[in-house]
Amino acid sequence: MQFQFRDKYVATEEPIIIGLPHEPAQMDNYEEVDTLLNGQLDAIIKEDVLSTEFGVVTTTGAIIQRDYRKVIAVGLGDARALDRVKLSEALGVMFQFLKQTDTVKGQILLDTFPVDSHMAAELVAIMAEISVYEFNSYKVDQAPLFSETAAFSITSSVDIKETVSHYGKLGEGIIMARNFSETPPNLMTPEVMADKIAEIFESHPYVTGEVKDAATLEAEGYGLITAVGKASYAKPRLVTIEYRHPDAKGYKPVALVGKGVTYDTGGYSIKSKTGMPEMKYDMSGAANVIGMVHAVSNMSLPVHIIGVVALAENMIDGNAMRPDDVYISYSGQSVEVKNTDAEGRLVLGDAVFHASQYSPSLIMDFATLTGAVVAALGEERTGVFTNKDAAFLNPLIEMTEQTGEAVWQLPISEVEEKNVRQSAVADLTNHVEKPGRASFAACFIKQFANGTPWIHFDIAGTGTTSKTTPSGPKGATGVMIHTIVKMFETGHFHG
Ligand code: BES
Ligand code: MN
Ligand code: ZN
Repeated sequence: MQFQFRDKYVATEEPIIIGLPHEPAQMDNYEEVDTLLNGQLDAIIKEDVLSTEFGVVTTTGAIIQRDYRKVIAVGLGDARALDRVKLSEALGVMFQFLKQTDTVKGQILLDTFPVDSHMAAELVAIMAEISVYEFNSYKVDQAPLFSETAAFSITSSVDIKETVSHYGKLGEGIIMARNFSETPPNLMTPEVMADKIAEIFESHPYVTGEVKDAATLEAEGYGLITAVGKASYAKPRLVTIEYRHPDAKGYKPVALVGKGVTYDTGGYSIKSKTGMPEMKYDMSGAANVIGMVHAVSNMSLPVHIIGVVALAENMIDGNAMRPDDVYISYSGQSVEVKNTDAEGRLVLGDAVFHASQYSPSLIMDFATLTGAVVAALGEERTGVFTNKDAAFLNPLIEMTEQTGEAVWQLPISEVEEKNVRQSAVADLTNHVEKPGRASFAACFIKQFANGTPWIHFDIAGTGTTSKTTPSGPKGATGVMIHTIVKMFETGHFHG
């Protein structure tokens, strides 16, 4: 979406777009807006022409400086309750209204939002990208995307141009991740995804990368990702991208690892005909890691990141892995495969151990890992697990309260440590027929962290949404990109 910037209202033919709190006097520019509306702002609200109700968009016409103009208002409710999450919601609803009504031009009066101008600008930039997201589909009659045609001006007494451009990059990271996830699986194979990643980061400042192909993975002992990917014509890849800002010298890197199963049929432990559709989204962890690195590098944040994405397609052929097989992981630990549908933990086992070789101060992995986490926490909370104490998660949890990306910690304990070692023939097993499957899966991955502080995000429920929300349509969400980028930005992971 294009923006232009103004420092005061200019009479144009564009509709004017305002935020409307319960007490409009709380707007920084109450006088100005009231004057534009011929001193009728209070009356317009009192007569219920425009609503101040939170998240409700209403419109009216007004004679503004002798011309008839459309006024579009998003209700903000009680200004005192307008935190970042609330404001994001209101802005999302506002942009979605503009999209639905084909309003591709308009003048947003930022001072009508009764919060810090830079905070308003930041959230406008992010929500403008994500709330009206639309996948550029393969429909013959796909209309041009709203995001490509829309061009709004933002009028603000404070100069917020840089802020909008900076956080637009965060929004773009989320869009990039969603585009990866939405692309059909025949068109987003491990090879295609690896090539796209290489292309995206090719000339990025401070970014270097490496792609390991199937032959290399096998030769170098990445036995788990090799096993998962070997039955597909589309062979696996392990992609590592390193972003190292010169100001981050002397810091150990933070590793971000993503599950990139480009399609999950379940393998011989095959999924049902209702369980298989949507499994194109099983690479959303990888997509979100790419979105994070893209945002952080575009925003030029002074940090050091290793992004690792494990790309494989879980298919069936005469050479597919079977339940009972044993494979040697990159870490050297042997693994008995008891369920070929528990493939995410296998690719992550190798990828997390690979990440640990860069001596990071922290490894975080993101994976659409278990149906169990969806049963436990639903679609709106990501399950988080760590090999550190619970307090270790506090800064992260506090950040999620700002971004609205809720997380909930789930345990890993001696119970799981014992269960993952239940194989009669190998060091570890990828599955036992017992409940508690989200914790079991997390504990399996933990065995590959090599003692590095580690946080695992099970995004099986939150990686996609089944309904439109103010943050975007049904489908891939790009969950956790916002939170993790903000954590890097506020220096939480370094120093
Ligand atoms: N990709 C799935 C998990 C999943 C399920 C993601 C539903 C999104 C929605 C994963 O690979 C899987 O198949 N997990 C199994 C593991 C089981 C066989 C131990 C599960 O959770 O049922
Ligand atoms: Mn599976
Ligand atoms: Zn899977």
